[in-house]
Amino acid sequence: MLERSAPPIQAPPAAWRAADGDVVSIRPIRAADLALEVEFVKGLSFHSRYQRLMSTRMPSLEELRRFTHIDPERELALVATVRAGGRERQVGVARCVRETSPERAEVAIVLADDWQGRGLGTRLLRGLIAAARDAGVRCLTGTALSTNDAVLALGRKLGFRLAADPRSATVTTLTLDFAERVSADAE
Ligand SMILES: CC(C)(COP(=O)(O)OP(=O)(O)OC[C@H]1O[C@@H](n2cnc3c(N)ncnc32)[C@H](O)[C@@H]1OP(=O)(O)O)[C@@H](O)C(=O)NCCC(=O)NCCS
Repeated sequence: MLERSAPPIQAPPAAWRAADGDVVSIRPIRAADLALEVEFVKGLSFHSRYQRLMSTRMPSLEELRRFTHIDPERELALVATVRAGGRERQVGVARCVRETSPERAEVAIVLADDWQGRGLGTRLLRGLIAAARDAGVRCLTGTALSTNDAVLALGRKLGFRLAADPRSATVTTLTLDFAERVSADAE
């Protein structure tokens, strides 16, 4: 539960063009996206699912429902979709969730395997960072397997500080403290 009420984390719908010309729609997730989310998660490789959840399990339908039926005061999930075969296909999602304080949020991101390494992760995470910052979040954190070179490179590129998790040798924590960034940018 949040300690006190906070402005919602919001982002307007947007379009992004990949280097090869493919156009991706980026928008906040909605409850009606459950079927898209189920299809997306089922289509992930074991490796991508493992990198995201740090576990071999398949998320339950109840969990996927929670991922799509979000509380806008606590959470924003930006979903990336493309048109394929005349219908919408989800190709990625990045989310941030306030846990106890309006000023701190936890981020997570996963893309369809055929969309990794094409710049979409950078676009989604940038959008999430801007939205969180505009809503008064001051610190974003994330956790990843220490062997997950892609997310560590992405985090480093967008200004996250990386540190070994003291509780687990295999986990790295990523922290983006906006106050630190402001003073670093001013130097
Ligand atoms: C992690 C993930 C979101 C990154 O998104 P992405 O779209 O593949 O990353 P981008 O193409 O935007 O690349 C971002 C930076 O990381 C680098 N990078 C991407 N993949 C990399 C890899 N496998 N190894 C090393 N660096 C990599 C890129 O070179 C780029 O840096 P640059 O712009 O300086 O060249 C995506 O790979 C993914 O969904 N992985 C599976 C799930 C996961 O690991 N989630 C994170 C745990 S919450």
